[in-house]
Amino acid sequence: MKISSILSGLAALALASLASADERTAAVYIQPISSSQASAAPIPLAEIRYDTSAAASDAEVASYEAPELPEDAGLVRVGVYDPAAKRWVSSVSVASVDNFSKGYSPTLVLSVNTDGSEVLGATLKGVRIDAGQTRDFGPQALVLVTKPGKQPELNKPVVLSPEGAQAVPEEKSLLQRYWWLIGIVVLLTMSGGGGGGGDK
Ligand SMILES: *[C@@H]1O[C@H](CO)[C@@H](O)[C@H](O)[C@H]1NC(C)=O
Repeated sequence: MKISSILSGLAALALASLASADERTAAVYIQPISSSQASAAPIPLAEIRYDTSAAASDAEVASYEAPELPEDAGLVRVGVYDPAAKRWVSSVSVASVDNFSKGYSPTLVLSVNTDGSEVLGATLKGVRIDAGQTRDFGPQALVLVTKPGKQPELNKPVVLSPEGAQAVPEEKSLLQRYWWLIGIVVLLTMSGGGGGGGDK
């Protein structure tokens, strides 16, 4: 196969994926973090409809359910959740329940990958309602498309395992773990090939 035909094939693929950038929906859930109870299952908060070919502010809150939070919950986890698989499918952020207080309108900010097929992270913030300036008191959504080759650095969300524990990356390198083995090999080499039967 000629390089040029591979290249044009790739170009066609890229165009196809651009053309199929269409409407998508993300299910945003919240999980109250309460001190007394074992962590409850995440509950649906909102469905956000977005189109990565449109401007960020064109995201739309397709549905929204004001959450009923336990009294002693001070914080909630926010993220995109798959209830069938029982796991978060985006990074998760933490917000204070005060963000749902009266006088604030909850604003959900999603960051998605370039073609919008994956939600990378979700955050929630309560924006103070200024009755003089806005007539739209309902929940708002903002979808930020991540440019290729760039990762969001500020406010980097924490990745959680399905149980909600913070995922700890593998800590020790092979060298750290097997230094003693390397030491033995070096010693054996220096002492003349394995300390076998003592022959010459
Ligand atoms: C929303 O939650 C964030 C994170 O906990 C907090 O810093 C912020 O003050 C909260 N905003 C409101 C309006 O309560």
